[in-house]
Amino acid sequence: MMLAACLSRPLSQLPGKATSICGRENGMRRALLLCSASFTPISRRTYASEVNPAGSKAVLITGCDSGFGFSLAKHLHSKGFLVFAGCLMKDKGDAGVQELDNLKSDRLRTIQLNVCNSEEVEKAVATVQSILDDPEKGMWGLVNNAGISTFGEVEFTSMETYKEVAEVNLWGTVRTTKSFLPLLRRAKGRVVNISSMLGRMANPARSPYCITKFGVEAFSDCLRYEMYPLGVKVSVVEPGNFIAATSLYSPERIQAIAKKMWDDLPEVVRKDYGRKYFDEKIAKMETYCNSGSTDTSSVIDAVTHALTASTPYTRYHPMDYYWWLRMQIMTHMPGAVSDMIYIH
Ligand SMILES: NC(=O)c1ccc[n+]([C@@H]2O[C@H](COP(=O)([O-])OP(=O)(O)OC[C@H]3O[C@@H](n4cnc5c(N)ncnc54)[C@H](OP(=O)(O)O)[C@@H]3O)[C@@H](O)[C@H]2O)c1
Repeated sequence: MMLAACLSRPLSQLPGKATSICGRENGMRRALLLCSASFTPISRRTYASEVNPAGSKAVLITGCDSGFGFSLAKHLHSKGFLVFAGCLMKDKGDAGVQELDNLKSDRLRTIQLNVCNSEEVEKAVATVQSILDDPEKGMWGLVNNAGISTFGEVEFTSMETYKEVAEVNLWGTVRTTKSFLPLLRRAKGRVVNISSMLGRMANPARSPYCITKFGVEAFSDCLRYEMYPLGVKVSVVEPGNFIAATSLYSPERIQAIAKKMWDDLPEVVRKDYGRKYFDEKIAKMETYCNSGSTDTSSVIDAVTHALTASTPYTRYHPMDYYWWLRMQIMTHMPGAVSDMIYIH
């Protein structure tokens, strides 16, 4: 009965607090299916094994103006890290940047960083190098967190939108990682990529976001294989739904996206789908804005573990039970079965 409830209950009816669920991919497939029936994932692990003290290890995080990045910068600073907080809006004096600067700590430095801009990324590498005590010993960690999101059916999404989202989420991650790898290799450090549950399972009307996060997953796997012999560990954090806790979406942003989308639609698509269908989809997206967990600590704990544990996990799944079970079913069951349960 519990399983049936878990399958069918929408997120809004589930307990608000997200549960940290992390697990290695390898060798878990059968176990994951079995454990779902007991509602207590046996893959669940605690974050007790933190053996690499932060000391003054240097970490760069992208996208610290708000959301996970902002909280993470403060948290890692409190744990003793030397934090380079990459902010898109540092030059514009954004509120998040000001709050981080107001900590007035030598161990928390905000830097201007648009991950789509190669010059800014190279400048960030030079800044980090100039501040490290011994650049030859390298930099411990890189957290690729910067991201944007959008929505819309395939036929509603322009090529411009697909490219815009990929430029930040995917190519921004690749660009920043490539630039910092020489420093990370010297320290035998860590790369932590913030993907999403939508980097593992797709969703209707989310293709512009899903394809970028699937790309981040593939990039992370290739990098992990290549870096293993060099001592750099690569982890992926796949958060569930924390929309209510971050700035990824707001009703205003959804309205702005919807207006542009409708204005740009080819006439044939507008006519075939009709305004009523379009408006219903937008209204559904607006309700999504207030959903999800408001407590981001499971995401912050996952990244901290990936940076500090002697054997960090390959993938972390900070999400509530509804999304965790849905992800297991979508990724382990035949498509015909999972489509019937969740999509059709
Ligand atoms: N919230 C969720 O439910 C959820 C779930 C799964 C995964 N994620 C992922 O978590 C990561 C953080 O998102 P969030 O939820 O914390 O949302 P958020 O509050 O919007 O944070 C994203 C940050 O990235 C920054 N950013 C945007 N474009 C950038 C660029 N070109 N260069 C550098 N920084 C840029 C944003 O700056 P501005 O604020 O100035 O635009 C913002 O500070 C993203 O990768 C997102 O895909 C979020």
